Amino acid sequence: MNRRERRKLGKAGAAAPAAATSAPLSVSAMLMGLAGQQAPLAVEAAAAPQADPVQSLLARERQQRDLAEELARQQRALAAEPDSELLLRSVGRLQLRLERRADALITYRRLLHLQPDHAEAAHLAAILSGVTPEKADADYVAKLFDAFADNFDRTLTHWLEYRAPQHVAMAAREALGGRVADHALDLGCGTGLLAPELTGLVRRLDGIDLSPRMIEKAAERKLYHQLDVAEIVAYLAARPARYDLLLAADVLAYFGRLDDVFAAAKAALQADGRFVATIERHPAEGFVAAKSGRFAHSESYLRQTAEQAGFRLLSLKPVDLRLEDGKPVPGLVFALGL
Ligand SMILES: C[S@@+](CC[C@H](N)C(=O)[O-])C[C@H]1O[C@@H](n2cnc3c(N)ncnc32)[C@H](O)[C@@H]1O
Repeated sequence: MNRRERRKLGKAGAAAPAAATSAPLSVSAMLMGLAGQQAPLAVEAAAAPQADPVQSLLARERQQRDLAEELARQQRALAAEPDSELLLRSVGRLQLRLERRADALITYRRLLHLQPDHAEAAHLAAILSGVTPEKADADYVAKLFDAFADNFDRTLTHWLEYRAPQHVAMAAREALGGRVADHALDLGCGTGLLAPELTGLVRRLDGIDLSPRMIEKAAERKLYHQLDVAEIVAYLAARPARYDLLLAADVLAYFGRLDDVFAAAKAALQADGRFVATIERHPAEGFVAAKSGRFAHSESYLRQTAEQAGFRLLSLKPVDLRLEDGKPVPGLVFALGL
């Protein structure tokens, strides 16, 4: 966000930066792109998980009220600057948080009218219109996580009990059966939360991600041999039989269809290779796109797509991936072999 944009949010009643740095950010807020914007960070403070159900309900009510007030402030600012991309995005996200889906769709269509190539608006407008995209747009994902990179670790690990990297590491350990992988690739490595979990499990670890800012954070850990800003399917397709371990912690939530990524993973693996990953689980058939812009998959779709790609399912386990609005997000961690 540049200085002019910051001033816009400030005019709209943004909280002081001090409040923003200490407030937790729910994962749906962050994945809807609220990260990096001071005002929404502050209204997320009430969403911290509460042990007592009464406290939890009161916190949720407080949060909804604060979000509604924030929305009203942003809408007043938008009335004064109707073509502001920043304010339209902010209003759309707040409307989504408040389940005002029709209003959010109108807002994203307005943004698309002003900027027909706007990746985030196109992705969310499609989902709100009942269309299920096949995957999240690369430009949208990169911008989303660039904006979130500075807050990612603190938000996920401190507030949201994020466990996907630990689940993936444990499933990888089991799938390797005592072997040490020679060359592993962390797909959508983000800030590198998975890397410290792989100690003793891999000789060489590389990582790729669409977001340059996330890659910068991963580099600070000094645990990766090589890091690249790249898209998963294209990167794997260009490296046939290169790896003996592929890992993806909370990344397939940005893919609807899994056939392309599974085919590319299979081609990039050596004969004894393993692919270990998580998905968000949903009970219906196939896959669905949520208002967060992420996807959830059914177990049967996962099994079927993996088999069609030529994989054997080595393990599959229900897990909680993190908290969302104080509740565990159900997922599956799985290991595939050839
Ligand atoms: C929720 S984060 C998880 C990061 C990391 N795996 C972890 O567990 O901390 C998802 C990451 O996947 C990346 N990502 C999503 N789709 C991608 C794609 N098609 N190619 C490369 N990276 C992608 C995002 O940029 C983001 O950093």
